[in-house]
Amino acid sequence: MNGAIFFSSRYGSTAQYAGWISDATALPVFDVNDANADPTYYDFLVLGSPVIYHKLLIHKWVKRNLIRIKAKPIIMFTVSGAPAGQKLDGWIAASLPGDFIARMTHVALRGRQNPKDLHFYDRMMLIIGGLINPDPVARREEMEGFDFMDKASIAPVVKLVQQFQSTEQDPPT
Ligand SMILES: Cc1cc2nc3c(=O)[nH]c(=O)nc-3n(C[C@H](O)[C@H](O)[C@H](O)COP(=O)(O)O)c2cc1C
Repeated sequence: MNGAIFFSSRYGSTAQYAGWISDATALPVFDVNDANADPTYYDFLVLGSPVIYHKLLIHKWVKRNLIRIKAKPIIMFTVSGAPAGQKLDGWIAASLPGDFIARMTHVALRGRQNPKDLHFYDRMMLIIGGLINPDPVARREEMEGFDFMDKASIAPVVKLVQQFQSTEQDPPT
């Protein structure tokens, strides 16, 4: 089967993961803001999105393209400060339709946040969020930033893509 990667990224870490996945799989890669990014032509999709303010940045694109993509196998990689777990699952549930989530395969990756790179509004919001966050680890990450970028962590995404690429008709469930 023939697939492609569609990602959205605010500060570049999701774009970097998308590039690494493309290098490892030879799939074409598109920023969803690119006018030429059309998912229609592909049998399966890898979608990549950061979590920004408790939502997946790609959620509007998914809703706009739902008719075109809902029947295709989807590998969704999220990029966040928080690790895999209940908090992340809740943010995904708040961002995407339930039947879409039920059909996609999710891989959680962890990203990067450098306070020096942030736009003024985001910097202020994260400082305020950090001040009121009861979780000391999350508070420090919001205030001081973090770098959890890990090229090896794309391995589960690459493995899923390779399964789809070797499938002639019916995708693996
Ligand atoms: C404004 C802003 C809001 C964020 N909100 C969350 C959040 O709600 N939960 C979380 O786990 N990480 C959050 N993060 C961390 C991002 O998910 C992380 O920095 C990610 O790597 C950003 O991806 P990008 O570089 O592709 O934009 C936030 C980062 C920024 C800059």
